[in-house]
Amino acid sequence: MNKIFYTLLALSISVLANAGGNPEHVSFPEAYKTEYAQYDTRNRNNGKQVAVMYANKIAIDSASNAKLAEGSKIIMEVYKAKLGEDGKPVVGADGIFEKGAFAAIAVMEKKSNWDANFDAKERAKDWGFAIYKTDGTPKDNDLECASCHTPLVESDYMFSYSSLQNFSM
Ligand code: HEC
Repeated sequence: MNKIFYTLLALSISVLANAGGNPEHVSFPEAYKTEYAQYDTRNRNNGKQVAVMYANKIAIDSASNAKLAEGSKIIMEVYKAKLGEDGKPVVGADGIFEKGAFAAIAVMEKKSNWDANFDAKERAKDWGFAIYKTDGTPKDNDLECASCHTPLVESDYMFSYSSLQNFSM
């Protein structure tokens, strides 16, 4: 026998990046900075980040109800907290951590007529989720977004519903 020739197969190993949430369904609202209202800034529960929240007009206009209207979109900008020499977040006079690097933009969108291929298990009732890099492209993230939000039935699956209500009054 002569030579054995190996054929290199182009293996289409689909290295599926683990996108945070479902950016294929929940789009990035490019103009949120100008079109949405900033309704809250708070230290995140994880004690390491600052969240700045924005809501679109549909959300603001329906916040006095028990639930937000369909078409509501909520944005959470995530900043790393600036750390002091002791490695702890630097706290400003208002009790809010000083902002360090801008890390991510989380999006929640409320809709009842999602595409059939958007698995309801990845949503919190009518809310879809996605997380983006600060340039608006999808960000990898292993968190199951709906998991923490799903138990919040009383506040329309949001952590900051009461802030939004106070803001809209
Ligand atoms: C470990 C629990 C947890 C997971 C998982 C989680 N969230 Fe949240 N989310 C929170 C908490 C807590 C807040 C309130 C701010 C804070 O303290 O962090 C919040 C707030 C938000 C907000 C602002 C609206 C609100 O509910 O107050 C958006 C938007 C959001 N999350 C999107 C996402 C997206 C997108 C993902 C998936 C990438 C995700 N969340 C995964 C716990 C979670």
